[in-house]
Amino acid sequence: MSTSSLKIEAIGPAIGALVSGLRLGDDITEGITDDQREALLAALLKHHVLFFENQPIEPAAQRDLAARFGALHIHPVYPQAPGVPEIIVLDTSHDNPPDNDNWHTDVTFLPEPAMGAILSARLLPPSGGDTLWASGIAAFAALSGRWQAMLAGLQAEHDFLKSFPAHRFARTPAERVSWEAARLKHPPLLHPVVRTHPVSGQQGLFVNEGFTTRIVELSASESDAVLRQLFAHAAKPEFTVRWRWKLGDLAFWDNRLTQHYATADYLPARRVMHRATILGDAPFYRPSN
Ligand code: OGA
Ligand code: MN
Repeated sequence: MSTSSLKIEAIGPAIGALVSGLRLGDDITEGITDDQREALLAALLKHHVLFFENQPIEPAAQRDLAARFGALHIHPVYPQAPGVPEIIVLDTSHDNPPDNDNWHTDVTFLPEPAMGAILSARLLPPSGGDTLWASGIAAFAALSGRWQAMLAGLQAEHDFLKSFPAHRFARTPAERVSWEAARLKHPPLLHPVVRTHPVSGQQGLFVNEGFTTRIVELSASESDAVLRQLFAHAAKPEFTVRWRWKLGDLAFWDNRLTQHYATADYLPARRVMHRATILGDAPFYRPSN
């Protein structure tokens, strides 16, 4: 099957593209072709987050689609779709308020964080609940040369507990058991502050407010000041795209040099999203020449 019907339109200069002419949802039974897979990976490299409209997809099909791009992560604390542990269910409402209304890169508490993720809109509030993505490549490129040089080669600590604290994720005895296991399995670890994209070779900022606690080569007060500056800088509108969800939309992002933010403006209404998380490689920094 050819990819000639595939259309990719940028929806922002730094990040984001709308993809059409391709079925990904439940009405494809044979899955995507190798050519389509390659075309999507190339588009992802260029645009960092891809949006697909009107692609309703059941958990098993979403798992199979994501698995075409790599091994899948099973999240240690988030709830799972029945019978499909690779699909996270983010079901938020008045009784279970959202926790992803902060800028974050998914699962950077892992030594090999996700290369990407596929998110499906299952149930939406009457309005609100938009998600924003930001390009760490655009954010890094906009820094002065002296600031880039200062950051290059530094290491930052990423801590599972910063986004998954006991008071929120260990409230019942059953939650406490899985949270304890997750905490022991995921001690704080280090990643480069500036990451080289393993495929494109581009440099990008790789600290995020969700998990990054400190830059280890700096004093505590220096680290606080630098991280505060970087978190604010990375979220500048110039580096972002904002997606207003419609039922059945899918987003596929490159999680290696992006962050995202789920706007929590819809309570007490309910919102349900399903995520498949594709594992990646260990982040590294390689100086450009
Ligand atoms: C995620 C996430 C965003 C959203 O799935 O990783 O942060 O809009 N969700 O629900
Ligand atoms: Mn997320």
